Amino acid sequence: MNKNPLAYEVHGSGAPVVLVHAFPLSKVMWAGQVKELAGSCKVITLDLPGFGESAPQTSPSIATAAQSVACLLDELKIVGPVFIGGLSMGGYVVLEFFRQFPTRVRGLGLFSTRAGADSDEQKKKRHEIADKVRKEGMSVLANSMPAKLAGETTAKENPLLLEQIKGMITAGSSVGTADALIAMAGRVDSSDLLDKIHVPTLIIAGAEDKVIPASDSELMKKAVVGADLHIMAKAGHMVNLEQPEQFNLLLKNFLQKSGLL
Ligand code: MLT
Repeated sequence: MNKNPLAYEVHGSGAPVVLVHAFPLSKVMWAGQVKELAGSCKVITLDLPGFGESAPQTSPSIATAAQSVACLLDELKIVGPVFIGGLSMGGYVVLEFFRQFPTRVRGLGLFSTRAGADSDEQKKKRHEIADKVRKEGMSVLANSMPAKLAGETTAKENPLLLEQIKGMITAGSSVGTADALIAMAGRVDSSDLLDKIHVPTLIIAGAEDKVIPASDSELMKKAVVGADLHIMAKAGHMVNLEQPEQFNLLLKNFLQKSGLL
């Protein structure tokens, strides 16, 4: 058994529900879901390599990040299958976890994410931003990203959330963040996996998402047999932070309906 490299928190008891954060945030972004779900299941949140309290990896990739999640479950002695959900980059890790460890998955959550890989142009851009972050630090992203992550309704009605997102980005490590950009650029296309998913799957997208359009979620819904898709009004990319009550209700109802709680 490899040593678990990830910082994590476990709240509650019962069926394991693992939540994987977005770029460039940390497990802190799931605080609202932990509060809501910990009374009815075992919620596990984690910091991906190079984020929050987790050290960067020596050879960062989405595939090795998924292996780290498996090591964490080993350390927690969770041998049976889990519900695992991830937002955006977290979703890339979740799909990769499914690719490598399908028997460890009892249900999937794909939030504001997509199955496809980056285009050559997107890869090039990520490498440029990674260089800039390594040289200039987190301000490169902290100043520009909150407005991209939040939808226009949130920008108008809840500017405090943009400040909170900025705070989470600023708290990140420039090394881990730059590594993650390179890891995302190098991720493989997971579209081929979608029709092999035969576990309950919840897909949530924000109608106002400027980072990954809701149409990517519609494509996943078409390919995953029996998947539930919800396109959330008045939400951008950060669906769980922008519309927490709606998000929690969808997740809880889905977990109950699928016999996962
Ligand atoms: C995220 O929110 O995790 C990122 O925006 C994903 C990406 O850049 O592809």
